[in-house]
Amino acid sequence: MIYEHPLAYLLGVEGIALMRAFTGEHDSEFVHARLAEVRRLLDDGSLAGAAVEVDRVDSVEGYRIWSRTYDGPNGAFAFDEPVVKEILDALPVGAVLDAACGTGRFTSALAARGHRVVGVDSSPEMLARARDRVPGAEFRLGDLTRLPVADGEVDLVVCALALTHVRELEPVIAEFARVLRPGGHLVISDMHPERVARGSIPSVRGPDGRPGRLPGHRHLVGDYLRAALAVGLRPRRCEEPRFPAEPPAESPSPTTAPGPWELWPWSLAEMVPEAALAADAGEPVTIIWHFQREP
Ligand SMILES: C[S@@+](CC[C@H](N)C(=O)[O-])C[C@H]1O[C@@H](n2cnc3c(N)ncnc32)[C@H](O)[C@@H]1O
Repeated sequence: MIYEHPLAYLLGVEGIALMRAFTGEHDSEFVHARLAEVRRLLDDGSLAGAAVEVDRVDSVEGYRIWSRTYDGPNGAFAFDEPVVKEILDALPVGAVLDAACGTGRFTSALAARGHRVVGVDSSPEMLARARDRVPGAEFRLGDLTRLPVADGEVDLVVCALALTHVRELEPVIAEFARVLRPGGHLVISDMHPERVARGSIPSVRGPDGRPGRLPGHRHLVGDYLRAALAVGLRPRRCEEPRFPAEPPAESPSPTTAPGPWELWPWSLAEMVPEAALAADAGEPVTIIWHFQREP
């Protein structure tokens, strides 16, 4: 069970903004505005009793529910697609594994580039959508830790926005190395650990309406690197697409209520927009890796 108290999030955002002021990014007016806002939040009786108890939901159950709406607007896509596609455009056509392919976002982009694509995912419901979207690809139900793919079967592995759901990177990255031919390429995108730490973790409502969060593990930059180096994968490129460094000159007016739980933490951030924009300025959203297996 996760205890999600709106005040915990709001004071956390204020704290990050204040820390950035303490290290010289903002002036005294900003600091005193934040301190006044903290007092107002602490005195806001409507927030005191607004905590929500949230279930931890596993990926298979979470994506069974999220599959219905996954292809709707998703702010993370703008922070991985341009870089991932730029890397893919420079690679030769061949046999590709789209690991944790979901509804086939990258399976379709890979098939359009002429690759022979196998998509693997542990969610039957996400795979059903991928089959409809990319009829020419092959799809297999399976887990990232035991990929249903033979040794050296593919020239390229793509794994987008999925590794935050696994607790340990090592067994998964070792699987990627196993299925790659020598000299093959691995392209990973994932939520950046800084975003995961700020609560950017997917939520779902269970069948009984209970709130639930999917697994959101925070892998540090060095965690990917160590796991890859240990199995003979060499880094070729690492990018951390980020929010604009300068927040807009005018912040929107603060909202006065936390909004529905489904929209947390974004609707909470709207209660403290100046602090939230300052806390996020220049912060990375995703991390993207290009590795190559030793020949
Ligand atoms: C955020 S979606 C990403 C889907 C797709 N790669 C994309 O970028 O749109 C994460 C996907 O990872 C899958 N997934 C999570 N844990 C997995 C595991 N251990 N093995 C296989 N698939 C997994 C989920 O079922 C889901 O389809």
